[in-house]
Amino acid sequence: MDTVTSVQDLRGKVLSWRQKGLSIGLVPTMGNLHSGHLSLVNHAKIKADKVVVSIFVNPLQFDDKTDLYDYPRTLEVDLKKLSSVGCDLVFTPNLDTMYPNGLREQSKVTVPVIGEILCGHHRSGHFEGVATVVSKLFNMVLPDTAVFGEKDYQQLLLIKKLTQDLNMSIEIIGGKTYREPSGLAMSSRNKYLSSSERILAAEVYNNLEIVKLQLCQGEQDYTQLCLQAEQVLKRRGFAPEYVEICNETNLMPANHQDKGLRIMVAAKLGQIRLIDNIACHLD
Ligand code: PAF
Repeated sequence: MDTVTSVQDLRGKVLSWRQKGLSIGLVPTMGNLHSGHLSLVNHAKIKADKVVVSIFVNPLQFDDKTDLYDYPRTLEVDLKKLSSVGCDLVFTPNLDTMYPNGLREQSKVTVPVIGEILCGHHRSGHFEGVATVVSKLFNMVLPDTAVFGEKDYQQLLLIKKLTQDLNMSIEIIGGKTYREPSGLAMSSRNKYLSSSERILAAEVYNNLEIVKLQLCQGEQDYTQLCLQAEQVLKRRGFAPEYVEICNETNLMPANHQDKGLRIMVAAKLGQIRLIDNIACHLD
């Protein structure tokens, strides 16, 4: 496994594979890798001959500077993990490589509507930062496929829309959410949870499962279901930002004609913001 830090070296390596007729898969990450990330690499390996993983903590997508500062950086361990799953190339640019003219002068990519709702509503500028860095990574690597986790379901749909809107011929694939035995979705931010918070955090997922069960049992009052779920979270000590039952293809509030649903949640536990979602298919 090779590691490159410059765009020139990255392009050189990718070009040598292209000249041999090999296909390229990309897994963008911010590092601090867990089993969920490694499963995305495995997924990319099935779809493409060569897999590139990028590791870059992107300041443009952090609305909270403390969160950016504290974000866990574990490059050495990450590289060992990536090597163990057969990643071919790791791209670890620094800030100047990604944003040579500084953040303020960087041209930005905005994805309207889907980038403004749910997490977009609560985290100002977040999805613009994601869309910008992912577009840059796509232009640097020119992959055939790119894999993103379903844990960040809104991000996954936003990137699909971005590639369609900007005519990028990259297949965007969603990788399933990896969970702790308790049901807690794996996330780099789980590291900040105390052991008691970690146990409690599984309630976010349990709550989603309860909403899903009620939907499957024919409950029609979606507003009430979401309010109840928020109240349960509040009682357990969370500060919920939203619980919403959405159409799974555009994340608009679901109506009763929609069969493919996604139940979306974001809630804070202390300083830690947790997000999760599950699919619910009604027949
Ligand atoms: O999901 C993430 O880790 C980040 O949002 C991404 C896609 C790597 C962009 O910085």
